[in-house]
Amino acid sequence: MPDVDPVRNPYAPGAGQRPPELAGRGRELEVFDVVLERVARGRPERSLMLTGLRGVGKTVLLNTLRSQAINRLWGTGKIEARPDQSVRRPVAAALHMAVRELAPHHRAPDRVDAFLGVLKAFALRSNASNAKLRERWQPGIDGPAASGRADSGDIEIDLVELFTDAATVATDVGTGIALFIDEMQDLAPTDVSALCAACHELSQLGAPLIVVGAGLPHLPAVLSAAKSYSERLFRYQRIDRLDRIAADQALGAPAQREGVEYEQKALDVLYEQSGGYPYFVQAYGKATWDHAPRSPITAADVRVAAPDAEAELAVGFFGSRFERATPAEREYMRAMATLATEGPDADGQDMDAAVPTAEIARALGRKPASLSPARDALIKKGLIYSGERGTVAFTVPHFGRYLRTQP
Ligand SMILES: Nc1ncnc2c1ncn2[C@@H]1O[C@H](COP(=O)(O)OP(=O)(O)O)[C@@H](O)[C@H]1O
Ligand SMILES: [Mg+2]
Repeated sequence: MPDVDPVRNPYAPGAGQRPPELAGRGRELEVFDVVLERVARGRPERSLMLTGLRGVGKTVLLNTLRSQAINRLWGTGKIEARPDQSVRRPVAAALHMAVRELAPHHRAPDRVDAFLGVLKAFALRSNASNAKLRERWQPGIDGPAASGRADSGDIEIDLVELFTDAATVATDVGTGIALFIDEMQDLAPTDVSALCAACHELSQLGAPLIVVGAGLPHLPAVLSAAKSYSERLFRYQRIDRLDRIAADQALGAPAQREGVEYEQKALDVLYEQSGGYPYFVQAYGKATWDHAPRSPITAADVRVAAPDAEAELAVGFFGSRFERATPAEREYMRAMATLATEGPDADGQDMDAAVPTAEIARALGRKPASLSPARDALIKKGLIYSGERGTVAFTVPHFGRYLRTQP
């Protein structure tokens, strides 16, 4: 029987870490292929928005979709939205990257240069109050900035013009441009509005530029608060935990490539512990591999390794997030965690169901209004979200369970 070599451990727990096997996302990849093909042909198509809890694999999927676009010779760029940061510069940098990818296929370099001039003007047109910062920052485009396009200072007007011009460059080479936006729920409301308007305009023109977003479950609410038509503009895909077959594949396929196998019972226990959440699948898989002496890996190996995986998650996945909260916010989350036990999902799996904010107030003996600042801060920090009015839920799977085990 072959040994299980820790050096060859294939699993990859960690935010944005590419998994050794992208399991259970076949449908999303197929849908995106069709989107790319349709958009390149000027057919009307909605942009994709991936939504889901933390650790379900949105970033990894977004990166895979990006590769898919690159394989079709599309120009691509990616940004990660941050609270309190305007999209102007990140979008400029991402589109710069995208157009650089397209430039070698373009027959008229002067048209590319003309676009870069517009891009530079767009990038340089940031807050006048930030004059110092503006001087220091250069978009890395050698030519002169153009004027009169995408430089009005109104982000909505400017994005529409910039995207339209970028799409023209893509049309010239017969492909398209895809702009990927991770953590999209963190965009400022004016930027969300502007992006929706730009996507709306482009889809009406049949211009080959799409925005592909990823964000927490309340992303649809964020978008429709900005523009009511956003529901028709985007195609939402809920990214969720893996089903049993996909989870087994996520563990089994990389192991098989190393000549290692799992006993069926080992996979049973692994699924019980991970709940099929991709981050947990990787974490338990990794710890189990490190502990297992030889193939096939057994249920006992999984059980011995579990405390290690939990300790790792407590620090890297749960603890790092909990530490971002103030004492008042922690108290709020603890009350949430206690109440969340009482509302398991229909399938009994997810113990961290949404909790009515009124109940949290009651449990803490406070007036609901007095807890609004804590709630809003936690939403802003991305620790909780409000999917339905008057309720909140954790953005991190099993977070309630984790808090209940903490003294
Ligand atoms: N389809 C998948 N199959 C197996 N593992 C996955 C899959 N998607 C993501 N992972 C793993 O899950 C973890 C979290 O992925 P990430 O993309 O950062 O999630 P999110 O962006 O939703 O928080 C990473 O360790 C990654 O390797
Ligand atoms: Mg992510």
